[in-house]
Amino acid sequence: MAVSYKELGLVNTKKLFAGAVAGGYAIPAYNFNNLEQMQAILQACVETKSPVILQVSSGARKYANATLLRNMAKGATEYVKELGYDIPVVLHLDHGDTFELCKDCIDNGFSSVMIDGSHLPYEENVALTKKVVEYAHAHDVSVEGELGVLAGIEDDVAAEHHTYTSPDEVIDFVSRTGVDSLAISIGTSHGANKFTPEQCIRDANGILVPPPLRFDILEEIEKRIPGFPIVLHGSSSVPQDQVAIINQYGGKLKDAIGIPEEQLRKAAKSAVCKINIDSDGRLAMTAAIRKTFAEKPGEFDPRKYLGPARDSLKEIYKHKNENVLGSAGKA
Ligand code: G3H
Ligand code: 13P
Ligand code: ZN
Repeated sequence: MAVSYKELGLVNTKKLFAGAVAGGYAIPAYNFNNLEQMQAILQACVETKSPVILQVSSGARKYANATLLRNMAKGATEYVKELGYDIPVVLHLDHGDTFELCKDCIDNGFSSVMIDGSHLPYEENVALTKKVVEYAHAHDVSVEGELGVLAGIEDDVAAEHHTYTSPDEVIDFVSRTGVDSLAISIGTSHGANKFTPEQCIRDANGILVPPPLRFDILEEIEKRIPGFPIVLHGSSSVPQDQVAIINQYGGKLKDAIGIPEEQLRKAAKSAVCKINIDSDGRLAMTAAIRKTFAEKPGEFDPRKYLGPARDSLKEIYKHKNENVLGSAGKA
């Protein structure tokens, strides 16, 4: 039997995005695959009084089981009240690739879905996205579409170079599909190696500085579709202190470089109203677990290493809400 997200106390993205675009901040979209990530995300967002988008990828569904993840998310709205502050919670499908997957999520309590047709020829992307929008809107569920391809690995498809979003296509895409938000490609990419050292320059302190995001393209897009909610994927900053801890305790992360926080802050002040972050959380958890294993080699209770990992993740996400996305205090 179908379950509407409304029965679960979840919300769609409509009001949240309107507030974010008008207020010059972005709603955090954090991925989760397990209990500790879910706890950290919700605790961070309650403590900073931020709305939150809980994201589930197809990979997460494969790893953790779709039914279990969905039922965890069902507890999310009760859990935030228990924590003492009732924040709006969206349950979102990240990088949905078929109509059937989107439909399954909509029928099972998701309040928002992404249909990622960005790798398809333009007309096929329009047709697939429109089909998902028709079904989603009949259930008051929000839809995110994507135009342009991020470099790196997206949905098991590896692209060597960015295909930046063409501002000339956005009016046509948005009006023909009816999407509620649009993910664009302006130089971000998924994972912890967003740039090669050769693409970067060194600042006075020897720190590698990546090339700036293409704010010129973002501005052109905003001119064509003023106030329309824009989404940035691949927005981890790859904190160098976390990378250093991982490598200090036996990790081998090489050339890990992310998007500088000031650039994300600048983007959040524009029509960018949803910022996707996953890799920074993975780094924070890995750093904490490696450190615990090295310092307490006799420990074998998973709570003793997953607990510190969860706490570190929570601190990273509180920092994002307060200092990068600007969503703190907006719930
Ligand atoms: O966009 C990708 C997200 O980081 C989810 O990654 O597909 O490995 O779960 P995943
Ligand atoms: P990062 O890999 O930069 O965290 O991006 C996550 C993302 O875009 C999820 O859809
Ligand atoms: Zn993504």
